[in-house]
Amino acid sequence: MNRPHIRLQGVSKTYQTKSGVVEACTDVSLDIRQSELVAIVGPSGCGKTTILKMVAGLIPYNSGTITIGDKSGSSSRTRLCSTGAMCCRT
Ligand SMILES: Nc1ncnc2c1ncn2[C@@H]1O[C@H](COP(=O)(O)OP(=O)(O)OP(=O)(O)O)[C@@H](O)[C@H]1O
Ligand SMILES: [Mg+2]
Repeated sequence: MNRPHIRLQGVSKTYQTKSGVVEACTDVSLDIRQSELVAIVGPSGCGKTTILKMVAGLIPYNSGTITIGDKSGSSSRTRLCSTGAMCCRT
């Protein structure tokens, strides 16, 4: 029960676009426990959707580690946003 169910450790994601590299989120670290309700809030473009997509395994990430339950991956799917996202626990 003490161990987080979802753990992001130093996760970063960039997108390659025609006009260059977009840094979507940088060095995101976050622990979420089983049954815990967490909201990710922040200004448009700060990387909220990107974080959710990485946690869901829908898109790769550049660095860091995402652990869900006993399964962890690194540098393939998910970092929190230096651009202003923050997480609110309820
Ligand atoms: N597929 C993509 N290709 C290139 N850049 C992207 C892509 N998806 C998101 N981005 C860029 O990454 C950054 C973070 O986008 P993201 O959609 O995660 O933000 P958001 O916090 O969910 O924004 P919003 O509140 O508007 O939904 C933005 O600069 C966005 O333009
Ligand atoms: Mg979004």
